[in-house]
Amino acid sequence: MGNIAAALAQIRQGRVEQAALEQLLAAGEADMPLLRAAADEVRRQTVGEAVHLRAIIEFSNYCRKNCLYCGLRRDNHTLARYRLEDEQILAAADSAHRLGYRTVVLQSGEDPHYSAGKIARLVERIKEKYDLAITLSLGERSKEDYCLWRRAGADRYLLKQETADEALFRFLKPDTSLKQRLNCLYWLKELDYQVGSGNMVGLPGQSLSTLARDILLMRQLQVDMAGIGPFLPHPQTPLKDFPAGQLNLCLKTLAVARLSLPGAHLPATTALSTLHPSGRELALQWGANVIMPNLTPLAVRDKYLIYPQKADIIEEPEKTLVQINSLLARLNRPVAAGPGHAWRLTGGN
Ligand code: 5AD
Ligand code: SF4
Repeated sequence: MGNIAAALAQIRQGRVEQAALEQLLAAGEADMPLLRAAADEVRRQTVGEAVHLRAIIEFSNYCRKNCLYCGLRRDNHTLARYRLEDEQILAAADSAHRLGYRTVVLQSGEDPHYSAGKIARLVERIKEKYDLAITLSLGERSKEDYCLWRRAGADRYLLKQETADEALFRFLKPDTSLKQRLNCLYWLKELDYQVGSGNMVGLPGQSLSTLARDILLMRQLQVDMAGIGPFLPHPQTPLKDFPAGQLNLCLKTLAVARLSLPGAHLPATTALSTLHPSGRELALQWGANVIMPNLTPLAVRDKYLIYPQKADIIEEPEKTLVQINSLLARLNRPVAAGPGHAWRLTGGN
């Protein structure tokens, strides 16, 4: 107990160091309430009570990469692939807007079919029509592409580092390197995107030290958002026989991320809800302040299978919103009114 209290005090004084982070990540069951309370308090003091909703549109499940953990990997020939037309993506953005969402996240595998110009035009069309913030999550591209999209009006970019361990990264993502990933992240920052990164918890070969380094890396990057969720084994991938990340370790990582990146937006990830039925609710009590409801058209929703999902993932957007609203009412957390830009830009307003 003493160790945990000392590590918490140290981090809250701004001395965010590897050893203290590892100590918190190693907290036993008895110390977990202390960690949760500290993260919850920092969350309240920084980003506040409001929860930001970001509608996610998964517009293509083609991917040129072959990441070992991911169901969209190019060698997964059992997956039926789809691409949405511009009009379908615009229709999904329209329903997001009608439901009151203030951000759309356009996500896909790394699909070269969508040229830089095609994406830029799509961003422009959404921006022209709606008062929506746009997050892109399209993987690694050239600095020129990122620049074009930023000029077209994209506000944010989401590119998870996945793991800060160089050797593990190379093993899991054979088409790229951690160095290349970081190049992309620094370009995005240079181009004045609000940048999100993140990591998986419970990857094979990962230790608490790796998780602490993940958090320190995101602190160094000064990310505006950190998406943290469990690794979930997908049966059609080389990692199918490895165990899923554990709920408690995910929650501790989330709390330590909140303490170390006080103003970052932290989503209650879909992966965590998939791992545990109360995952979303718990995440909101362990430092998270964002939910990303899925607005992908139902006809293709079950094909964006990065990891095995629950049957209720196939749900009308209206129904999802009702459920989110009742969860937030129960937790006494309002839906945020604004677009939820980076805390460093808004000071929480
Ligand atoms: N388990 C958990 N998360 C995964 N992702 C991909 N595959 C898995 C998996 N098996 C996450 C990664 C990636 C995003 C597309 O989904 O973090 O950034
Ligand atoms: Fe493609 Fe991303 Fe999946 Fe890797 S994690 S295979 S880049 S969709």
